[in-house]
Amino acid sequence: MMKKTAIAPANIAFIKYWGKRDVRLNLPTNGSISMNLSAFHTITTVAFNQTKSDQIFLNGIPAGKQEALRISAQLDRIRSLAQVSFPARISSKNNFPTGVGIASSASGFAALTLAASRALGLRLSKRKLSILARRGSGSACRSIPDGFVEWIPGTSDENSYARSLYPASHWDLHDLVVLVSRRSKKVGSSEGHSLVLTSPFFEARLREIAGRLRRLKQALGRKDFRIFGEIIEEEALNMHAVMMTSKPALFYLEPVSLAVMHKVVAWREEGLESYFTLDAGPTVHIICQGKDSKKLAQQLKAVSGVMELVDNEAVVGARVIEENLF
Ligand code: DP6
Repeated sequence: MMKKTAIAPANIAFIKYWGKRDVRLNLPTNGSISMNLSAFHTITTVAFNQTKSDQIFLNGIPAGKQEALRISAQLDRIRSLAQVSFPARISSKNNFPTGVGIASSASGFAALTLAASRALGLRLSKRKLSILARRGSGSACRSIPDGFVEWIPGTSDENSYARSLYPASHWDLHDLVVLVSRRSKKVGSSEGHSLVLTSPFFEARLREIAGRLRRLKQALGRKDFRIFGEIIEEEALNMHAVMMTSKPALFYLEPVSLAVMHKVVAWREEGLESYFTLDAGPTVHIICQGKDSKKLAQQLKAVSGVMELVDNEAVVGARVIEENLF
């Protein structure tokens, strides 16, 4: 039977993908580095030839028109590789709220790409899977490999892909994801990427990014938490400076996001070490070492306005599983 289910983690970027050199291919302007998240995932079942046309359910409800188009376009890429034109029945579920700064498109397109390609009998290499997932959503290419991941920006479809730098066991880092709002963001990241050139700071960002990537990789290799943390905060603020100075301006931070960021800095000065990063949303990601995660989680939950906290470790990338959603 042409049916398979895959699970893929969301990922948090330490060095960000913000800006595309090629919109059609999702080629990024710069490389990025991320960690797969253990507590946030998408599970997707894909079956071919069970329906007359593509039938897509997201979290139990039929996909909206835009979502369905984007997903069918990704299926077309996989169908064309397998040289078939079978319609697909898809059910996809996230175990987290979408649109709040946890990359649902990353886990979603990674799981879809793996499940659909395997359902059609394709046995693609990790590199090829990462390339394909990238076409669906850029950050999805980083949810294919294991643990700590680097996206090599490349210059063409064939050489822009993500690879594992270290397995999840390399470093006991945690990402305490602090949810401060359940509202869906107004401007999604795909649209945000297209605005980078309208910020006068984007050029300055690009001048610094190669050095920051190099320093972060070095800190990751040596497990130098202080240097690592300083770089990820600098990077998140740098990306948000570009966002805020785009035209129109993109402002993702909520008052509670800022309150949490201030707390993290204050606790650090008292000796409890953690660092923040953010994606395109108000959710704050607090990166800490395993030995401090329980205490930090407790203190973060007590910050006024914090709605929910989810403790993540690094985890393997996308994989096929036996259960299925229909
Ligand atoms: C801020 O991967 O969602 O999370 O390629 O258009 O689907 P598309 O964009 P997407 O962008 C993610 C942006 C980010 C930073 C990051 O994850 O590196």
